[in-house]
Amino acid sequence: MTIAAVDYDGLIPNNVALGQDVRVKRALEKWHPGYINWWNDMGPEGFQESLVYLRTAVGVDPKGWAKFDYVRMPQYRWGVLLAPQMEGRKIPFGRHKGEDVWQEVPGEYRAMLRRLIVIQGDTEPASVEQQRHLGKTAPSLYDMRNLFQVNVEEGRHLWAMVYLLQKYFGADGREEAEALLERRSGDADTPRMLGAFNEKTPDWLSFFMFTYFTDRDGKMQLEALAQSGFDPLSRTCRFMLTEEAHHMFVGETGVTRIIQRTCEAMKEAGIGDPHDIGKVRKLGVIDLPTIQKKANLHFSLTLDLFGSEISTNAANAFHAGIKGRYRENRLTDDHQLEHDTYPVLRLIDGKIQNEDAPALSALNMRLRDDYVADCNVGIGRWNKVIESFGIPFEIKLPHVAFHRHIGEFSKIKADVAGSVLADGDWSARRRDYLPSDEDRDFIESLMRPQFEPAKFASWIAPPKVGIDNKPGEFEYVKIV
Ligand SMILES: [Fe+2]
Ligand SMILES: [Fe+2]
Repeated sequence: MTIAAVDYDGLIPNNVALGQDVRVKRALEKWHPGYINWWNDMGPEGFQESLVYLRTAVGVDPKGWAKFDYVRMPQYRWGVLLAPQMEGRKIPFGRHKGEDVWQEVPGEYRAMLRRLIVIQGDTEPASVEQQRHLGKTAPSLYDMRNLFQVNVEEGRHLWAMVYLLQKYFGADGREEAEALLERRSGDADTPRMLGAFNEKTPDWLSFFMFTYFTDRDGKMQLEALAQSGFDPLSRTCRFMLTEEAHHMFVGETGVTRIIQRTCEAMKEAGIGDPHDIGKVRKLGVIDLPTIQKKANLHFSLTLDLFGSEISTNAANAFHAGIKGRYRENRLTDDHQLEHDTYPVLRLIDGKIQNEDAPALSALNMRLRDDYVADCNVGIGRWNKVIESFGIPFEIKLPHVAFHRHIGEFSKIKADVAGSVLADGDWSARRRDYLPSDEDRDFIESLMRPQFEPAKFASWIAPPKVGIDNKPGEFEYVKIV
């Protein structure tokens, strides 16, 4: 593996020798002002002049790829960075398994590849748009900085996808790149492409749940695309995954710190019953049942991103060698799956049951299963915190049939345990499972900014360690 140095001299930092690629360099330079306009219009509201202690990628060596410094966000060096090319890499799965990976787009798969890149690309600016109001209510400068770090990196992920479109897809790639700047999260006329990316992120608990659950969908998709036989896509996704890990860290530790603070406050006040919501809320912390409801909401919205359980598109993309499975390279079957089956949860005679389906058609289901397992790891850590306080409460993922809008279970109403409910029962119990207006109002009432270094809002504990090993009193954002 050779590690290409990053060229920081031009307008667009890159390790793809953009200086020698005049056509693509020009296309990206032409796209750049529109991107900056989008960032100024739709990026973090009210903090564009502030100095934020951000990491910027300066290389793609996993051991030391980032440097930290104060940056005004519109001046962040968004660049095009691909993981190093692996000598002799072969297509790892599908009908072309074992052939050399493609360095150019294979004509027969062009439309499929473009679609996958555009869909991935569309999610990146969408989350920045969804989170743009949160700076104003940040519970600390540390958290504000983490929010902005996630935001600038989602911006860079957009650059990553736009580079692929500009470089490999000619005129229609350029059109798609423009359209990525035109759609808007939640807009009635020009929404973002996927449902969860048009929802609101109104408060910081939502933000942490979003980065925990929805950025983790991003991780799964990137892992599957990192296996691609189209090598530039694989290399792009491999580097994006390095950044993505931080987004999930923000989500997981954010929720952990909220739980920690709630449990501490309950203990100090001598409250043993986690369901005594009125009393817990009077302490200025978020009660555990409300945290559970937020998890139910974000988990179920994110499951919809995996698409239908049975999918010809997914089968085609795998068969073609374009999109693999989660960590395909660690699996030990034939990587072609033409004669295999996979158990899929389906609705059969009104009951939720497993049924074997052809493995190729069931790839969305399989990726979703891997996702659920990955979600459960961090939830185990949340529960350890609750347990350490001796509070009888456990955060649980709802059943995959709960609150679904896409796929097998979109036709039914199920409770969090996966029992099918009559419509009337669902309406009556919905507020037990999902945040109600009162829950939202309560959380909103807590969203008061805390901009003094080393201080934190009442409802969240400080982190165990600072970013870049900075001490507690460090001023992560100098607000201008
Ligand atoms: Fe991203
Ligand atoms: Fe992300």
